[in-house]
Amino acid sequence: MSNTEQTLSIIKPDAVERNLDNEIKQVFIKNGFNIFKEKKIQIEKSEAEKFYKVHETKPFYSDLCSYLSSGPIVVMILEKENAVVDNRKLMGATNPKDAEEGTIRKKYGISIDKNSVHGSDSVENAKIEIDFFFKD
Ligand code: CMP
Repeated sequence: MSNTEQTLSIIKPDAVERNLDNEIKQVFIKNGFNIFKEKKIQIEKSEAEKFYKVHETKPFYSDLCSYLSSGPIVVMILEKENAVVDNRKLMGATNPKDAEEGTIRKKYGISIDKNSVHGSDSVENAKIEIDFFFKD
């Protein structure tokens, strides 16, 4: 039985600013993901605060929300079997300097803040994050 799953991926401002969005989309496609929906948008800081609410007690919360709203981002619904886990493997560790060779953050990430991509961390959060950006 097929176990197709969806996850939310964001190509963050540092990568879009460097015109890496198409290249990063190709990495997802080469690794078996279907880009089911995508849009390039810029969000307000207040929206970033809602999106990252789970981090609201963290010392980096305000900077994180300012950063995500600082420029255009590409938000995508990615689909494949085990999309959530496989996307996290493909992204690599949160901090690019800890990320393994062959991962997106290793190749494109600049710092723990400017780490080029976000991906949902569980199937449950994937549903919430997909609804956040794509519920009409
Ligand atoms: P992301 O997967 O988008 O989820 C939250 C983001 O917070 C994370 O990627 C990092 O870019 C950012 N961040 C900044 N500082 C930290 C930190 N100390 N620990 C974890 N995430 C951090």
